[in-house]
Amino acid sequence: MNDRKFILLDGKASSAAIKEELKIKTEALISSGTRPGLAVLLLGEDPASSVYVRSKEKSCKALGFHSVVQRWAAESSEEKILEQVEKWNSDDKIHGILVQLPLPKHINEEKVLLSISPDKDVDGFHPVNLGKLMLGIEAHQPCTPKGIVELLARYNIETSGKHCVVVGRSNIVGKPITNLMYQKSQHANCIVTICHSATSDLSYFTKQADILIAAIGRPEMIGSDMVKDGVVVIDVGINRVDDVSRERGYRLCGDVDFDSVSKKSSAITPVPGGVGPMTIAMLMQNTYESAMRFSKI
Ligand code: GUN
Repeated sequence: MNDRKFILLDGKASSAAIKEELKIKTEALISSGTRPGLAVLLLGEDPASSVYVRSKEKSCKALGFHSVVQRWAAESSEEKILEQVEKWNSDDKIHGILVQLPLPKHINEEKVLLSISPDKDVDGFHPVNLGKLMLGIEAHQPCTPKGIVELLARYNIETSGKHCVVVGRSNIVGKPITNLMYQKSQHANCIVTICHSATSDLSYFTKQADILIAAIGRPEMIGSDMVKDGVVVIDVGINRVDDVSRERGYRLCGDVDFDSVSKKSSAITPVPGGVGPMTIAMLMQNTYESAMRFSKI
């Protein structure tokens, strides 16, 4: 008989619980005169980005937030975007601003992210906020990394002194989660290794992981031969792969081969229903916290 302890890290359920808590706190904040407001700008019609933005809009409505979504043509000018961000920076009804990434090639992403007021940067992508994250100073933190730490905390996963291996060095996930996991805080305090496209023997590192965070964007790249028994796996990938047996013609999968890796792991996030819903919950939390801060000014 297999009496191995195994935890499915259910991001969907955790996200729903966080949003329930937020809804109650939001009602109190609204009663005191402040309705949290989130403004989102989406350029173009990338299907994945459109799904994410719709989901953010739906969550705002469900929580009673003020929600503004601008959907513009991909050809829109950088100047127009900067003007819109500037308007939101000085709009008292808006406490969070999010420009959906990736941006079209002709737009300078760095310039756009720098134009968002750090106080309203609920994505936590502004260099001021990323600098504070590295230093362990309270500030808006990027939603996916924050959601990962929250999920580990909610399931009481021991992190202190553990070896956390991050695969992927994106600005959105890999770099910030690396910097969060080594912080001297209750739900971090890890020894952290970051691997990326120039890592020649990836297995050498992933096999050492007590906690493995995969954020590569390659379908099912991490197999069971690349992990050790008892590993805790956080799969950030959301990949579409062709599947003719599905009505829509594709299925979603992570960067980790769930079926085989879950048999060796002590805890693992599913895809979908793992990290994705936590990202949205943290965006709502950042927007609420921003509104709280503004309400005290
Ligand atoms: N594109 C993919 N993830 C994100 C995110 O968390 N924020 C923004 N702004 N764009 C994204």
